[in-house]
Amino acid sequence: MRKNIVAGNWKMNTTLAEGVGLAKDVNEALKNATPKCDVVICVPFTHLASVAAAIDTDKLGLGAENCADHVKGAYTGEVSAPMVASTGAKYVILGHSERRQYYGETSEILKEKVNLALAENLTPIFCIGEVLEQREDGTYNEVVTKQIEEALFDLTAEDFSKLVLAYEPVWAIGTGKTATAEQAEDMHAHIRSVIAGKYGKEVADNTSILYGGSCKPSNAAELFAKPDVDGGLIGGAALDAASFMGIVNAFKEIFSLKR
Ligand code: 13P
Repeated sequence: MRKNIVAGNWKMNTTLAEGVGLAKDVNEALKNATPKCDVVICVPFTHLASVAAAIDTDKLGLGAENCADHVKGAYTGEVSAPMVASTGAKYVILGHSERRQYYGETSEILKEKVNLALAENLTPIFCIGEVLEQREDGTYNEVVTKQIEEALFDLTAEDFSKLVLAYEPVWAIGTGKTATAEQAEDMHAHIRSVIAGKYGKEVADNTSILYGGSCKPSNAAELFAKPDVDGGLIGGAALDAASFMGIVNAFKEIFSLKR
């Protein structure tokens, strides 16, 4: 059965001291909580080892926000999947729209990154999503289908089953403009049908598909209550322990309804 997951994506925020402090706050809040979902924080590379040492990684999963498309060697400034794994991280966000948009990441590059992450037993949180123009011209389902097919459909069913997907409509990221719960559910159901078409219903049913884009404590429960929305990938609201925990706790409200 697929898991419910709330994952934070800190992006390029916090100094090391601030980041360790935030991680400790979330870790502390989780000590006394019985979350109805897995909780993960994805932090800047520079913070990984220190955060790993400061938290209970069995209760609070740790991830990176990216990894290189090469395993090692003369790639100045890059950080490889083995390096990420060596810090104690278990997850890595791949294909975030900000990486695609600002750093030219293509499906070909992402394929390599996924393979390298899987080789290190890291769980990729693989992001997909359309831009505003594609939402408005009605091509969003095709756009997302293509992103999945191009980067992921060379995987075996066994490897595909190790992924977490995150649907992040680019027009909803950092804009305060959340997709409606119905828009999210429609897309998540579409994504699940695309997966079922390639790998079968069982793999599709077992894939966790997170929603990302202006998710906050006030709208998380409505989104997560939808049958195909298995949690969230949280940007801005993950930078404050209380608001992040507000989103984590949204699963308590709806757990009895969903599972
Ligand atoms: P916001 O929650 O800030 O909109 O960011 C979402 C996101 O991009 C998470 O990866």
